[in-house]
Amino acid sequence: MQPRFAPFPAARPRRLRQAPWVRDLVRETVLTPADLIWPMFVIDGVNGEEPIPSMPGVSRLTVDRIVEQARRAADLGIPCVALFPYTDPAKKTPGAEEAWNPDNLVNTATRAIKQAVPNMGVLLDVALDPYNSDGHDGIVRDGVILNDETLAALEKQAIAQAEAGCDIQGPSDMMDGRVGVIRAAMEARGFQDVMIMSYAVKYASAYYGPFRDAVGASGALKGDKKTYQMDPANTDEALREAAMDLEEGADMIMVKPGMPYLDVCRRVKDAFGAPTYAYQVSGEYAMIEGAIRAGWLDGDKVVLETLMAFKRAGCDGILTYHAARAAELLAIK
Ligand code: PBG
Repeated sequence: MQPRFAPFPAARPRRLRQAPWVRDLVRETVLTPADLIWPMFVIDGVNGEEPIPSMPGVSRLTVDRIVEQARRAADLGIPCVALFPYTDPAKKTPGAEEAWNPDNLVNTATRAIKQAVPNMGVLLDVALDPYNSDGHDGIVRDGVILNDETLAALEKQAIAQAEAGCDIQGPSDMMDGRVGVIRAAMEARGFQDVMIMSYAVKYASAYYGPFRDAVGASGALKGDKKTYQMDPANTDEALREAAMDLEEGADMIMVKPGMPYLDVCRRVKDAFGAPTYAYQVSGEYAMIEGAIRAGWLDGDKVVLETLMAFKRAGCDGILTYHAARAAELLAIK
């Protein structure tokens, strides 16, 4: 049935915008703190904080301080945090063995959060880049990123993370077949309820620069990630990637970066109807925060407008470094 609309003046779209109560009544999309996942960076030590220059307002935190922030997240109604490590360069190796150390930074922080704030969801990346002396997400030999050898390492990493209590594995490495390997490993070891949020559609993006500073991978990285991360020009390929990951057992899928790829979010959501998330990445945060700090944008307004855009594009949730600020704003509204 074709909807029919009266012409002006019978139809006056401004009627529905005339007052806050009617704007509230006709609003199509809602943003709540429950839509947010808050990424954090973990460092060694006690009661310590290290500001990240390319992400103003974001610091690397010691485990005790991470637990404090997880409590704050719970108080704000944020359901899940994502943890990333700043690994001591001395612990980085070509085999990235630190990735499956049961006592590495993210596993230690996960155990601490699960003990102190049991109802907080914990999402951990499955990828080797914070642990790899080559700075790549996979194992490198003669300049080539090896797919199947990397799968064996990712499997060990995912098992250690499940044993530490992580709720959601976030394979962010873009190796082919990794979701199937992680899902099988979880099933085989009694971790059948551990979820997988696959970074199914991850582009080779310049917007990850500040994150690589935050985890200390920028210096190590040789070359670029274009042989495994996607070409920003492609969207049919995004659907193939998402389809493969869902078939291999992903429970949720992610598109990354976020705002420059809202068209991809919409296509993926429409094609599969699966729980779909976007990662508003470090470079997006840096751009927005930079403009706010320069006084060029109204921070409170732009943060909420930006996050709402993801919901409008079909996302069920957003990973954002603005999670706490947004949740605080939503609590006041
Ligand atoms: C690592 C990983 C990256 C991000 C999340 N996991 C960077 C990369 O692939 O180089 C980026 C997050 C951000 O920029 O905020 N596999």
